[in-house]
Amino acid sequence: MFNFEFYNPTKILFGKGQIASIAKEVPADARVLLTAGGGSIKANGVYQQVIDALAGRTIIEFWGIEPNPEYATLMKAVELGRKEKIDLILAVGGGSVLDGSKFIAAAIPFDGEPWDILNKGAAVNTATPLASILTLPATGSESNTFAVISRRETGEKLAFGSVHVYPKFAVLDPETTFSLPPRQVANGVVDAFCHVCEQYMTFPADAHIQDRFAESILKTLIEVGPRTLANPTNYDDRATFVWSATLALNGLIGAGVPQDWATHMIGHELTALYNIDHARTLAVVMPHLFRVQSAQKEAKLLQYAERIWGVTSGAPAERIEAAIAKTEEFFESMGLPTRLAKYDNIQDGTPALVAEKLQSRGFAKLGEKGEVGPEQVVEILTRSLAA
Ligand code: NZQ
Ligand code: ZN
Repeated sequence: MFNFEFYNPTKILFGKGQIASIAKEVPADARVLLTAGGGSIKANGVYQQVIDALAGRTIIEFWGIEPNPEYATLMKAVELGRKEKIDLILAVGGGSVLDGSKFIAAAIPFDGEPWDILNKGAAVNTATPLASILTLPATGSESNTFAVISRRETGEKLAFGSVHVYPKFAVLDPETTFSLPPRQVANGVVDAFCHVCEQYMTFPADAHIQDRFAESILKTLIEVGPRTLANPTNYDDRATFVWSATLALNGLIGAGVPQDWATHMIGHELTALYNIDHARTLAVVMPHLFRVQSAQKEAKLLQYAERIWGVTSGAPAERIEAAIAKTEEFFESMGLPTRLAKYDNIQDGTPALVAEKLQSRGFAKLGEKGEVGPEQVVEILTRSLAA
């Protein structure tokens, strides 16, 4: 196991009716900037629960943070937050609202051009306090340090991370997710599954507890994912899914182990180019990346084949292919295509274009050992474009 530091200060408030508990978390005299997306929280009653819980506080609202949150929109919230001298940002929504709010939190006190945080990796030394009420289990954003922000004018989708944007608390009430459209539930299951794989499908590091944690999340998602998609208001299944998605990317399973993230980096470029949902980009990249990197990932792919899919017979290459095929079947059964060819309007030359874009951003060598270079990116996407 590698040396590591593990620090996750986000207080989790999990379960039915927990929005009411924020009354004890938010000071009575706080000036709160409530950030939200396009209106789902009004339609499902979450907004009213938040307003009731915050009775007596000064609440300033900012609506319109879009899926794949947009820099220009967020900068309007930064201006509002500075003008109103807010004490707390309360992000209410899915990963996009939470990510956007992390950026707002970092940008409000930032001295300089806030785009530098994303583009140049400028240090975030402080942030406005932030808390979250999650309505879409998928990203883990509710209790991690990361945010991914888009800038459509330049075709960029870039990430940053800072301990200063850890939410102070995260409310996870599974009932707030009952209103999700099936597509978002399926996306969430696959996103969480891929988060685990990015931290697991690398090379053995004698990190047995992390491996077993990761495997338990994968098995749980395979079991509960289809059930919660079919029965969206079954509380227990939804609660299991919500907690799985949080644990998939809150730092725990990734502590002390090698990590990959090449699938995510390639996927972000596909979203920037074609506006494909985040999880859907992962489903068209990850299985092909496993094939292209099967020699580098052999030991973990074999462990995955055996422990997750029960594949124990055949030559190593056959077992690996069987496990990758089962992964594809799982994604497809959730309604996510595993071939980029299934999407309309993919321009000729896309594999080379994505490789170039990654290179131009200084990401020429991706993966746990830096072995996913431009050539491999082209191969992965070329395979995904084959019918
Ligand atoms: O905008 P509203 O009206 O709220 O509607 C949203 C949005 O249209 C809707 N929605 C959310 N909760 C709902 C609901 N509809 C009905 N009922 C509810 N309870 O769902 C739509 C999609 O929301 P979005 O927040 O975009 O989805 P998701 O949570 O999948 O977030 C995706 C974003 O997170 C980034 C992705 O790149 C993408 O930009 N990621 C963030 C990560 C992180 N912070 O660690 C890691 C991930 O790998 C990922 O990159
Ligand atoms: Zn993801």
